[in-house]
Amino acid sequence: MDFSITITINVLMPMKMNKYSQIFGVATFFVFIACTHSVQSASLSQAGVATAHPLATEIGEKILKNGGNAIDAAVAISAALAVVEPYGSGIGGGGFWLVHTVVDGKDVMIDGRERAPYAAHRDMYLDKDGNVDHKKSMDGALAAGIPGVPAALQYLAEKHGLLDLSTSLEPAINLARDGFKVDEKFIQMLKFRLPAILASAESSRIFLNNNALPEVGYIIKQDDLANTLELIANEGMDGFYRGVMATKLVNGVKEAGGIWSLKDLAEYQVVAREPVVSQYKGMKVTSAGLPSSGGIVMAEVFNMLSSIEQKKKTDSEQIHLIVETMRRAYRDRAEFLGDSDYIQVPVKKLISQAYADLLSADIDNDDATPSSSLKPVAFESGGNNTTHFSVIDQRGNRVAATLSVNYPFGSGYMVPGTGVLLNDEMDDFSAKPGVPNAYGLVGAESNSITAGKRMLSSMTPTFLETQDRIAVLGTPGGSRIISMVILAALEFHKGGDARSMVNLPRFHHQYLPDNIYYEKGALSEKNIEELELMGHRLSEGSAWGNMHAVIWNKTKKTIDAASDQRGIGKAVVIKE
Ligand code: GLY
Repeated sequence: MDFSITITINVLMPMKMNKYSQIFGVATFFVFIACTHSVQSASLSQAGVATAHPLATEIGEKILKNGGNAIDAAVAISAALAVVEPYGSGIGGGGFWLVHTVVDGKDVMIDGRERAPYAAHRDMYLDKDGNVDHKKSMDGALAAGIPGVPAALQYLAEKHGLLDLSTSLEPAINLARDGFKVDEKFIQMLKFRLPAILASAESSRIFLNNNALPEVGYIIKQDDLANTLELIANEGMDGFYRGVMATKLVNGVKEAGGIWSLKDLAEYQVVAREPVVSQYKGMKVTSAGLPSSGGIVMAEVFNMLSSIEQKKKTDSEQIHLIVETMRRAYRDRAEFLGDSDYIQVPVKKLISQAYADLLSADIDNDDATPSSSLKPVAFESGGNNTTHFSVIDQRGNRVAATLSVNYPFGSGYMVPGTGVLLNDEMDDFSAKPGVPNAYGLVGAESNSITAGKRMLSSMTPTFLETQDRIAVLGTPGGSRIISMVILAALEFHKGGDARSMVNLPRFHHQYLPDNIYYEKGALSEKNIEELELMGHRLSEGSAWGNMHAVIWNKTKKTIDAASDQRGIGKAVVIKE
């Protein structure tokens, strides 16, 4: 760490009186870092940031260079992505921030997932004939859950950051006000959601050029969003969930056919939850707990894989075994998982080795198990919505954050005068048990709509730890998020670097449809032939996901970072 740089920053940047400064005082800040290093052996000379957008990465980098820690960088990046990547996440959406703090060596998952409004009910997306009306759960204000991002930003900054919330939000506020140039991906996403965007006068005004798709290089300025972020910067979450802003949001939602109330906003709280921890052959896997399904599905897969001998098997046999474990774990996701604040989920049992041994007992080494022969339940398919970023700071603090507004540009509806683009995360509930949603999701009762409940997610921010390396990773991509993180974790376990983890060609199985999906290059002709002979059905799909990983090599004291070549993101390593 370059002390002279940081000392300058202490003068320039307002260090808040958080628990660190209260205990030690700002003047002894550096002594504190030195102590932390010796206690935790976490001294790094480098830091790393990888996000889905170059401007967000640059903002994260700046915060780290200017005295912020990984959590401050995460706050700044989350807000910046809300400005430049509104198709992936935003302050009208939610997310999970997996945080490791060196000061206490603890991991915690900050759950800023959206909640169903209190007026929500089980059959709210059914028409008069009892059929699911997907348009209602995906487009417009009725599709929106109560956002969690603004509350999470305050929580993260206050509980774990070194900088004031206003300091970390400032770059995003400037970016919203000054504007940014749209790229090809932004335009593609707009095109995909054009009807929903056009249905909202405010979204059209902000994102389109005279109601038409903008050209590459068109500058999008978001003054209302800058003002709303400024309100959060000055007043914390109350600036969003209470007072003038809350009234504007509730009125705007109601006028557009939604059901939010002031009570919904005033009572929104983030929850600090225990992550799910599992092991795979000497690698510790720390990942998201409920209401994300990611950690539990991964734990089941890794437990099954750990007890299945994989050595001396051919490529195709190994792929077969991974697919069979995915099939079984995704089946359980559909049957058992939902918001554990509202339903009983047997988490302990699901993540136990004894259960995995039972589950894997009928895996045949040579033949695919037809999913139809397993007890039938729900499934979900992938998407390219959502966003992820990974940060490790010079002190060893780390954040893996996966954030979402669900479908690209969420519900498409922007509340007039606020710059807040609403999510359509309500579609992650099962609108009717047994009937697929727009992604092909057939939900079970465990994920049915209940007032105030959080909808089940697949977002899987993850830490991996071996004897000499720690990886921070995650990706967008609907239910395929979990299989992508599993494959990247296996690659890391084999010694792969950040670049090989994020760019790895992918395959996926999720129980139903009973099909292996694969990207071009993920399987050889020989693999395909052999897997078909085992009874698998396969289909090649277009590329999916947008993974961002940062790896700390504890032995070499170096950082390695990479952003997925499928996206437009940027990874940086910050050296002394
Ligand atoms: N909306 C994507 C997810 O939470 O899984």
